[in-house]
Amino acid sequence: MCGIAGYIGKEPAAPIILDGLSKLEYRGYDSAGIAVFDGESIHMEKAMGRLRVLDEMTRHGALLPGFCGIGHTRWATHGCPSDTNAHPHMNAENTIAVVHNGIIENYGKLKRRLEQKGYRFASETDTEVLAHMLTEYYRGDPVEAIEKVMHRVEGSYALGIMFLDHPHHIYAARKDSPLIVGTDDTGKFIASDVPAILQYTRTVYYMENEEIVCLSNEHTRFFNIDGESIEKTPATIDWDIHAAEKGGYEHFMLKEIHEQPKAIRDTISPRIREDDIVLEELGLSDDAIRALQKITIVACGSAYHTGVTGKYVLEELARIPVEVDLASEFRYRNPLYAPGSLLIIVSQSGETADSLAALRDAKAHNCHVLSIVNVVGSSIARESDAVLYTWAGPEISVATTKAYSCQLTVFYLLAMKFARLRGTITPRRFQTLLDALRLLPDQIEGLLSQKEKIQFFANHYLATEHIFFMGRGIDYALCLEGSLKLKEISYIHSEAYAAGELKHGTISLMEEGTLVVAVATQDALYPKTVSNIVEVKTRGAFVMGLTTLPHRDMENHADYVLYVPQTENCFMGSLSIIPLQLFAYYVSLGRGLDVDKPRNLAKSVTVE
Ligand code: M6R
Repeated sequence: MCGIAGYIGKEPAAPIILDGLSKLEYRGYDSAGIAVFDGESIHMEKAMGRLRVLDEMTRHGALLPGFCGIGHTRWATHGCPSDTNAHPHMNAENTIAVVHNGIIENYGKLKRRLEQKGYRFASETDTEVLAHMLTEYYRGDPVEAIEKVMHRVEGSYALGIMFLDHPHHIYAARKDSPLIVGTDDTGKFIASDVPAILQYTRTVYYMENEEIVCLSNEHTRFFNIDGESIEKTPATIDWDIHAAEKGGYEHFMLKEIHEQPKAIRDTISPRIREDDIVLEELGLSDDAIRALQKITIVACGSAYHTGVTGKYVLEELARIPVEVDLASEFRYRNPLYAPGSLLIIVSQSGETADSLAALRDAKAHNCHVLSIVNVVGSSIARESDAVLYTWAGPEISVATTKAYSCQLTVFYLLAMKFARLRGTITPRRFQTLLDALRLLPDQIEGLLSQKEKIQFFANHYLATEHIFFMGRGIDYALCLEGSLKLKEISYIHSEAYAAGELKHGTISLMEEGTLVVAVATQDALYPKTVSNIVEVKTRGAFVMGLTTLPHRDMENHADYVLYVPQTENCFMGSLSIIPLQLFAYYVSLGRGLDVDKPRNLAKSVTVE
């Protein structure tokens, strides 16, 4: 939701912090702020708007001299975006500065108590209670004050804190919001995510829940919530530093769309050995897989959409009943965990609050949890019984593309593996599927080379107000994603429908010129979807048909047709999503919008 960066070391802190925040802007971008110890006081600057406003205001940090500081880029939860509500927040004496990612759920009660004691609040944020609580409990030992605050607050937080009394130190703590600590010869860093520090160091400590760290030039000391000293082992990040750069593309989204063939190859190749699928990470014996009675897939947003495809593919190939649920619904509906069931959590970031809560509920009920996660070492990955990583690399654009595609392929691997073990497909069919799977990256490369055709079509629809996506089966799952992709970055209202469902209400919205994207790649369902195309066209809709080459007769029904290559029906989503991602991208571009940072959104939703 928000990005935190902090630095203490031998270099001027502000430029390093601002650079770090620029790599975290995907996490929040409605305001930003920074606090640096300048030798006498904690000097703070904050600005509403994108980070560049703060960057220009401080002349890229040159106006904030000092070697120790903390910074923040905000996605507003409590209090509108404004200079005042931007972080850091300080106490009245300007001796304690705090940046925070997360939500303090009991802040109302805490605020009332503090006000009764005479504390005055400048902002509308939940975070400000932390600055005043730290003041209340501070008796000369920052770790002790932080501990006391942690024992009293409810909710989630990653915190960066400075105390004027301890000017050459940064303190940080976390619970349910990500935070890493980096170290190198010249300094120490705190950050919400790896890209913020990748150009300085690859040595990181992943902070666990309810841990505190104290950083100075001399030491890196970790404590638990009771103030007891703890030992932690650093990890080494092996990311390619250029992976988090635009690399010549105008936007991260376009770059990430083009990275999909590689990301899929990286995700499937290590798991295909001698014409078999090897999923060592699964944490389930072959017998346990054969005995599986039910799978529940839980996720949010696009990750949920991959779950919907996963349901079709797992049920079709492995013949296991699959339920798919939105994490925000699942966690509060007292779900049933049948014996012999498997829960799969899907998440790019591995930090999504609702998905994490669903995971914890399942684990509390002794359900085996497998997660499909992109960010290595993230909370969901660490708390699951087993993890299948998607090897998409860092995904920066808020609108997911390559992580979505990799999640789909992990579902294909799972479905094929389970099907083979359970004997629900023949060895020959398994081989055919495997060949098709291996071919997907090349087929996507072919599709990407035809992007101008999609740009041409997109440019005709820049002023459209409503778009409907319709399809059946896997095509419907795909429509959910195509529609979300479009609406989140173009701000055009769009809806996805199971094509057969339109006539139960939504068809009343069809009128002359309504744009309908009809996806019809499933051979068995093709005639049914064509009938639905005829129905909406009769009501005046303009239909863009998306199908495979054998179905050339689509040109007799739709007004404009896009073809994707043929693959196995259950893998079609991996190909048909490419034109829909490009369509969303070019509509957003044509409307002059901020493709990578759409309004009101953040990449990682670490609050409810
Ligand atoms: O990090 P996660 O995969 O758990 O995130 C889930 C959703 O927030 C995410 O897919 C969101 O819907 C994207 N903006 C879609 O592009």
